[in-house]
Amino acid sequence: MGFPEERPRRLRGSAALRRLVRETELSAADLICPLFVVNGRGVKKPIGSMPGINHLSVDNLLPEAAELQARGIPAVMLFGMPDRKDRQGSAAWDPAEAVPRAAAVLKQRFPELVVITDVCLCAYTDHGHCGIVEGDRILNDPTLELLARTALCHAAAGADMLAPSDMMDGRVAALRRALDGEGYGHLPILSYAVKYASAFYGPFREAAASAPAFGDRASYQMDPANGREALREIALDLQEGADMLMVKPALPYLDIVRRVREVAACPVAAYNVSGEYAMLKAAAERGWLDERQAVLEVLLSIKRAGADLIITYHAKEAARWLVEAGGAPSGR
Ligand code: PBG
Repeated sequence: MGFPEERPRRLRGSAALRRLVRETELSAADLICPLFVVNGRGVKKPIGSMPGINHLSVDNLLPEAAELQARGIPAVMLFGMPDRKDRQGSAAWDPAEAVPRAAAVLKQRFPELVVITDVCLCAYTDHGHCGIVEGDRILNDPTLELLARTALCHAAAGADMLAPSDMMDGRVAALRRALDGEGYGHLPILSYAVKYASAFYGPFREAAASAPAFGDRASYQMDPANGREALREIALDLQEGADMLMVKPALPYLDIVRRVREVAACPVAAYNVSGEYAMLKAAAERGWLDERQAVLEVLLSIKRAGADLIITYHAKEAARWLVEAGGAPSGR
């Protein structure tokens, strides 16, 4: 059978019909909002390449978290910007630093909000790499212990979930062992299992002052040309005890999100990264795109590709737009 018996347009005739047959629904409950925390008080410093996103000190984090929660966003992901950096990144596991303090205060004030912490060293090392550096090499195994220390520091502060983003081999197992050994066997790990060496992290690195001082991250993050290798990474991370998996970035890797979804039974998250955010913001500022429509379409596409959860800087705005649209991203 074909035309004229079949007419797909019949089911597109009205907004109500379209809503009835819509396959994918985006909701605020799918979103995780990244937050940049700094030391000090009263800090709310805009990030130039990420309009609408600020560096926040812990006191200013509270109203932000309250608003996110009020809009139905269930989780935040904390990134820390320390004042001091050294070769090992020792501020990463300092309980007086911004991330552990923020985690503690957020859990105290918003017990319902899921607080996820990014576990990595790059914002804390003076060379900007995600591991210990020897010559021009990034050492794998010695880095694991520092990551485990960082995870334990966040766990002790009250974090609900740890998200290692360094791409060292064996880090999920190292974190799991450390957490279990210290009585945190109940805390889940969201592994950045499939993280590509991407140009789309540019604005984040500016925000976190975490660009590598020499070389690049290609010896630990994945080659953008590789798809099969993603399956190897997730198999290893699941074996090591990951509770959830992440693909990052999202848009240039929607095929990978789909492939991971098809083989993994656990929740899959996709990280709609800083460069993806900046692109839309820049085009919208110039009046080249309808921001609301473009953002909701992008987030919907990530969900449709197979992500259960989307980490996105658009979270707050998107949650508002979703309410206005009655949950229908393209409800025109
Ligand atoms: C740290 C880390 C990065 C991002 C999240 N965690 C940057 C990087 O790998 O250089 C990027 C997030 C974004 O671009 O929004 N390892």
